[in-house]
Amino acid sequence: MIQTETLAPPPTHPSPSPLRWWRRLHEETLGGAIFAPRPFLANVLLALLPEGTLSVLRTGVYRHVWGIRVGSGAVIMGRLAFASAHLAAQNVQIGSRAVLNARVFIDAAAPVNIGDGASIGHDALLITTDHAIGLPEFRAAERFEKPVTVGAGAWIAAGAKILPGRTVGAGAVVAAGAVVTKDVAENTLVAGVPARKVRDL
Ligand SMILES: CC(C)(COP(=O)(O)OP(=O)(O)OC[C@H]1O[C@@H](n2cnc3c(N)ncnc32)[C@H](O)[C@@H]1OP(=O)(O)O)[C@@H](O)C(=O)NCCC(=O)NCCS
Repeated sequence: MIQTETLAPPPTHPSPSPLRWWRRLHEETLGGAIFAPRPFLANVLLALLPEGTLSVLRTGVYRHVWGIRVGSGAVIMGRLAFASAHLAAQNVQIGSRAVLNARVFIDAAAPVNIGDGASIGHDALLITTDHAIGLPEFRAAERFEKPVTVGAGAWIAAGAKILPGRTVGAGAVVAAGAVVTKDVAENTLVAGVPARKVRDL
């Protein structure tokens, strides 16, 4: 006789108690994730600025209203997209003369340092959050964060993705659409998925 194995029932998650809901709401609001006043005000002002122009004003809003450390002569050409936006003032540093194009995504959960004179193309992603690979029913398990560094003068081209913990060396170029899974040496061009060295610069 063929023995059929009884499947275990799917895991059940207890519905959160009202107290847990309240704690969660408190963390996400009064804890700063939603109602942090400076990012809130900055976002109101940024929404009024048309993309691709008024870069001096936009950069000033990020620097003076939001409180992000933005060096002198840096230019932010379009609206940035943040994860953990309430940590951006604490964790994000943009060097002097750096240029950030529109829709650069910065995950501010851990330090993100963009060096002096670095350029970040539009739709590039600087990602600091990762997850341990968990059980099949919930693969994106324990969350952890690692910093991202873009060295002085480096160019991260459009749509490139820098993964948590990675450093792009000074003077390096990351070609459009590349996914950086390992540190990039100074003054090298990398391209592809995963990013591989194309040549020295
Ligand atoms: C990297 C880049 C600058 C070209 O540099 P380059 O020194 O002229 O390089 P080449 O065109 O000679 O290409 C060298 C090799 O890299 C490859 N390569 C270049 N760009 C690539 C990319 N984005 N993805 C994958 N491979 C790429 C080429 O196919 C070539 O491979 P091969 O030697 O096997 O033929 C350019 O391809 C690029 O990605 N530009 C970014 C454009 C952009 O994002 N603009 C927005 C403004 S911020």
